[in-house]
Formats: sequence, structure tokens, C-alpha cells
Amino acid sequence: MNSISKHVVPWIKNLDPYNVGKPIQELAKTLNVSEEKIVKLASNENPLGMSPKVHSKVNNEIIKINRYPDSNSTSLKKAISDLHGVTVNQIFLGNGSNDVLECLAKTFLRQGTSSLYSKYSFAVYSLATISSGANSIVVPSTKNLGHDLSAFLSHISSDTKLIFIANPNNPTGSFISRDEIKSFLNLVDESILVVLDEAYYEYLDDLDKTNSVDLLKDYPNLFITRSFSKAYGLAGLRVGYGLGNEEVISFMNSVRQPFNVNCLAQMAAIFALEDQDFVEMSRIHNRQIMLELVNGLSSLGIKTLHSRGNFVLANFGNQIKHTKHSLGIKLFEVLLSLGVITRPVTNYDLPNYLRISVGTEEENKYFLKVLPQALDLIHSNSNYV
Ligand SMILES: Cc1ncc(COP(=O)(O)O)c(C=O)c1O
Repeated sequence: MNSISKHVVPWIKNLDPYNVGKPIQELAKTLNVSEEKIVKLASNENPLGMSPKVHSKVNNEIIKINRYPDSNSTSLKKAISDLHGVTVNQIFLGNGSNDVLECLAKTFLRQGTSSLYSKYSFAVYSLATISSGANSIVVPSTKNLGHDLSAFLSHISSDTKLIFIANPNNPTGSFISRDEIKSFLNLVDESILVVLDEAYYEYLDDLDKTNSVDLLKDYPNLFITRSFSKAYGLAGLRVGYGLGNEEVISFMNSVRQPFNVNCLAQMAAIFALEDQDFVEMSRIHNRQIMLELVNGLSSLGIKTLHSRGNFVLANFGNQIKHTKHSLGIKLFEVLLSLGVITRPVTNYDLPNYLRISVGTEEENKYFLKVLPQALDLIHSNSNYV
């Protein structure tokens, strides 16, 4: 190890970077096909793109990118405040909700403290915790891999400062009702911040979409995160937000980068909020195609977990027995060779599963067409089984 590397802080040394979805451009190059031929079902983006209204407005804004953005995102905060009925001082904006999660970790965690999260929940909770020098307390899941809130309560330690709950959860798609969240908040010490990560909120059916934001009034230790990367279709611009109590937000403002949300992202998010018809269309489309995807997988004998997000977690464990390697990784690789990008979840300790995002109708059909081919290829290749 060279002399500089030995000064890297110890908890960073063994930290694996976040495993992002394979880029379309890279696979198109490898397969020597055009990018349009690649089907990406790997990062839970909106397959319908963005609202056409956002598209034209962003084009008009490009001319201004020689200027720094508004550091306080004043207009976007005003739009979010109108949407949720919270004050602008209760809003924290981030370079994606990922940035919000990291600023929370920076603000509340350090060596000698801990955060708590479910075994099969979003990988960034662990990354943000470990990189701040704190310990992760990983709570065992329910039988269907979801959050077990009573187990959360029994795992809280005297040094726990943050609790992360993804609702709906990635990668399982599981969901917790508002009543369960409320009962949980009643039992958690108010000195611990409970982070409710609602990146997929807009994909919920109306019945499940009960307002978690109104809980903020009664629970000052509640913090909610939302994203523009999913149903709003702005993943590439990187913008998300957090809602919490004003004191928490003011501390977080001290640790964020001064210009953490770029000007195109601020503008696009404002117009995206104005086009709720597009969000609703995306939600309905997601439900329809997810049903087709789940039924298609089921007709091949593949089980999926009930998902409230825009992706499904599929268990391929009954397809091939006794694999030498992670079946999820092998299937991911064979699907890549057929032009389809999915997400293996071996990093979540789920070696026989793949997470598959809901795509367009055509993408979904193509995936279901090539999947039996991919499984046959694995069966017939002795290196795999
Ligand atoms: C549960 C969850 N939270 C947060 C994020 C971060 O999203 P973004 O930073 O794009 O807002 C993701 C991304 O996939 C996610 O799945």
C-alpha cells in the first residue's frame, strides 16, 4: 500500500461502492448494436420518459447554465411547500434523494453511533452509515423480506441516531401502512430521527397513498424523503427532497454543498410538479405493465414478491438447482448478451433473485420473450450449472 493510501480512514477501506445499473451506451457498444436496441430494466426509472411540458421548459433554460444555480432553490421550495402544505424551512433539497440521505448521515452519524435498517433495504443506508464511521444495525426482515417494525424496536441501541425505512422498499417492493408507521413512531424515542424514504410514493395506488406528510406535525423526529427520479422521470437531472422539522433542516443546510441542485434540475422539478397528469398516467401505466410482467413470469413458473414500486423482485431459485455460481449474476450476464439489462441483487444476499424494473409494453414483451432463451442457455452451459 502506498504512503497516501494508508491514511484512508479505516471504515472506508473495505467499503464496496454502490453497484449501479449497467449503462445503455456501454452495452450497446459491447454488442455492437444501436442504443435503441437495448432494453434497460435495471434502475427503476420512468420508462415513459418525462412530462413533455418539462422537456420544452428545460430546453429554454439551457442558455443560462453559465450561471450558478439558486443555492436555496427558492422557487422549487415554494412549489413543494404549496404541494405539501409545509413551510419552506421544512424542505431540504438534494442532488437526488440519495444526497438527502447522505446529508442526514453527515449530520447525525459519526464513530460510536449507529443507524438501523432492514436487511433487504436500499443499499445507500449502509453506504452512508459506514462512510460516516458509524455502525449499521441490520434488522432481520419479515418472511416476505419486508420491514419487521417490532424487530426494529428490539434492535434499537443506546447509540442509535437514525432509523431508515424505505416505503415502498427497494429491492423488495414491500409496503407499510400509515397506521403501522404511526404506531412505530409512538414507540420510538423522540431523540432518534426516523427517516421514511418514499422515493416510490407516486407509484402507490390511491388507497395506499395516505398522507404521511401530515405526521410531521405530531412527530418532530420524523423525516420524509421523496425523489424526482422515479414517477417524475427526472433521474438524469438528480433532484430529490426531504421534509422534516425546521431545526433538523437548518443543521443539514450547513453540511450540504452550496449548489447541490443544478439549475436545470430546479426548473424541471417545478414543471414536473405542475404536470400531475403525467405522474398519474405513469402510475396507471406502471400498474398495467407490472401485472403483465408478473403474470408473464408466473406462467414461466417464476415467483415474484408483491411490489408497490415500479419494479419486481423475482426468485429464480426453482429454475435451476445446484448452481456453482450466483444464479442471479449468471442470468443477468446471459440477459445482457441478449440486450436486456436487469439488476442482480447478490449484494443484498439474494443470489437467486433479479430485480426487474417495469419498462414500456414493448420492453416488457421483449424481456419475457428472451427470458426462456436465457434460462435455456444457462441449462445447456455446463459452466453455469
Ligand atoms: C428506496 C430508494 N431511495 C432513494 C433512492 C435514490 O434515488 P435518487 O437519488 O435518484 O432520488 C433510490 C434509488 O433507486 C431508492 O430506490
